[in-house]
Amino acid sequence: MSAGPGTAHEPLAHVDQWDDFVAGRYREGRDTKEFRNYDREANPSIAEFYRQNHAHQTLAFVLDKEREYGSLRRRRRSIWDAAEYLNTLVDESDPDTDLSQIEHLLQTSEAIRADGHPRWFVLTGFIHDLGKVLCLYGEPQWAVVGDTFPVGCAWSDQVIFHDYFAANPDARVPEYQTLYGIYEPNCGLEQVHMSWGHDEYIYRVVKNHLPEPAHYMLRYHSFYAAHRHGAYRHLMSAHDEEMFAWVRKFNPYDLYSKGSAKPKLKELRPYYEDLIAEFFPEPIDW
Ligand SMILES: [Fe+2]
Ligand SMILES: [Fe+2]
Repeated sequence: MSAGPGTAHEPLAHVDQWDDFVAGRYREGRDTKEFRNYDREANPSIAEFYRQNHAHQTLAFVLDKEREYGSLRRRRRSIWDAAEYLNTLVDESDPDTDLSQIEHLLQTSEAIRADGHPRWFVLTGFIHDLGKVLCLYGEPQWAVVGDTFPVGCAWSDQVIFHDYFAANPDARVPEYQTLYGIYEPNCGLEQVHMSWGHDEYIYRVVKNHLPEPAHYMLRYHSFYAAHRHGAYRHLMSAHDEEMFAWVRKFNPYDLYSKGSAKPKLKELRPYYEDLIAEFFPEPIDW
């Protein structure tokens, strides 16, 4: 990972540094033993990133962002325009060594396509990180990327760097610190507020255009505590459990397609323009 300019307040050189960290974390079965005790000194910017994320993602913050972005009143934009807009995120830091955002999206979707999955699944791969445009709206890294988790109830110790939650103001709200917090047993994730980031945002933007398994893939792709570690089942419904099979099916394409050949944008573009037109005939609200 190259070092982008960053800012004094942003711990990661680039938001993709978090994605690279997660891919490394799950390589070769390292998740089972090492992941909760990740070496903070070897990964100072990652640790600082999680420190900020865990300290600031409160229920009040999440409700505020759900209101701010949930109305989708920012602008209208086509999927392809959003991908090109997101690409400016990398171009500003280091266009030579980093995979551009579009390249990561295409590697993910091309790997899904190569395995013969349906067209909506390929398209879901292509759009899954478009919510990172939140960075371009000026949101801090900790409100765009990072492992996601429910807010308003006790944090599972399966969430990485769990001890950083001690600095979260919700730690001092007894109502939010019980197992179920503000929720009912097995109420279903639809009732549950997740830490705010690119997953929840892109789900809200595209949900009316794609089938339900795509909703789960988009909305919970960074919810590693649940889809990798089996946490939070006490909040999930039987339907969530069923749908999480799709989240798990999607995850390896996101994590492990990065090593594949650089996608040939020019050659692929007509296929993707057709695919986008099939599900998104018009620009959509962001
Ligand atoms: Fe993502
Ligand atoms: Fe991704």
